[in-house]
Amino acid sequence: MANYSIKLSLIIFTFFFPRQLIFCNSQNNVIKGGYWFRDSGISTNNIDSTLYSHLFCAFADLNPQSNQLIVSPEDRDSFVQFTSTVQRKNPSVKTLLSIAGGRANRTAYGIMARTFNSRKSFIDSSIKLARQMGFYGLDLDWEYPESTTDMTNLGILLDEFRAAINTEARNSGRVSLLLTAAVSNSPRVNGLNYPVSSVARNLDWLNIMAYDFYGPNWSPSQTNSHAQLFDPVNHVSGSDGINSWIQAGVPIRKMVLGMPFYGYAWQLVNVNNHGLRAPANGKSNAGSIDDGSMTYNQIRDFIVQNRAKTVYNATIVGDYCYSGSTWISYDDTQSIRTKVTYVKGRGLLGYFAWHVAADQNWGLSRTASQTWGASSQEMK
Ligand SMILES: *[C@@H]1O[C@H](CO)[C@@H](O)[C@H](O)[C@H]1NC(C)=O
Ligand SMILES: *[C@@H]1O[C@H](CO)[C@@H](O)[C@H](O)[C@H]1NC(C)=O
Repeated sequence: MANYSIKLSLIIFTFFFPRQLIFCNSQNNVIKGGYWFRDSGISTNNIDSTLYSHLFCAFADLNPQSNQLIVSPEDRDSFVQFTSTVQRKNPSVKTLLSIAGGRANRTAYGIMARTFNSRKSFIDSSIKLARQMGFYGLDLDWEYPESTTDMTNLGILLDEFRAAINTEARNSGRVSLLLTAAVSNSPRVNGLNYPVSSVARNLDWLNIMAYDFYGPNWSPSQTNSHAQLFDPVNHVSGSDGINSWIQAGVPIRKMVLGMPFYGYAWQLVNVNNHGLRAPANGKSNAGSIDDGSMTYNQIRDFIVQNRAKTVYNATIVGDYCYSGSTWISYDDTQSIRTKVTYVKGRGLLGYFAWHVAADQNWGLSRTASQTWGASSQEMK
């Protein structure tokens, strides 16, 4: 990215073109990102892409035999049409093909990353697939490398990925594909350090997954805020994560804060003890999925149907609600608004949502987008 001719053309651009035009052509002055996947509840033509600058189509996966990137037969049609479909409502929205994801086989990625040939097979097939399907970039969501060797090899993989993307752009005369990755809230995950300098050098930006800090399956005995922005007590929060990435050496302009459009439902031990960090008994039956998670849409319906009490905690920036023995941590409009204001104020590149279909009537998406404001007002 930081290459002289790009800089020079930007300077020329800045001096000779009217501001309006710069904004229209500038790809990454703010990331208003959102992920979509096939079974998420809405089809691609129902995505309100006007509220997003970048949409991530999830997930393509690794074929461990060939070490190539593949799209499952069930995904193929919607992936091939993804870009043209979401660009109908917003012609300037950029799309990225997301790779792996939380349910992918992490061991297979570790094996692929071990040798030059298998990495090359993965990288070349990824670039080819992204181009064939009309995506603007690739987003690697390897959750997570399992050893120091995996982390080292991830660093090498990203170096080679960036080089291959640059070569492809030169040879094809096209704008380079974007290269991003979804990473954990801090540069240390499961006791292992990310290859931070490679990450900073090679990625256009990092999607920081600032959520899932607590959940009824992995912290069953206490309610807690799973995506809080601040944590004066234990320093497990989005802002603490950002600070740790900064300390590790990643420029803040390469960071994009993840915001959950979902929550987690615990079962309270005592219905009269319903605060933060109240005793709990694992997940509530209200949570529809195995891990006790509920989409924002389901949570809003739950609140209305059960006349649940809602609480916004401004100290931590997080919402919760409760009714009977069900207690749910989530982000409502106030949390989203405050997070986006924070992201903008600290000079991050933007935010992303997991996931767009979990929203209710685009309420959180609209709140986030409007809070940032029109991107044309951002570059000074
Ligand atoms: C994950 O990948 C490894 C290596 O390819 C393989 O041995 C293992 O069986 C896979 N696990 C699952 C659940 O498919
Ligand atoms: C808000 O969060 C702070 C910090 O964790 C906590 O001390 C306080 O009790 C919380 N207030 C409510 C109403 O949840």
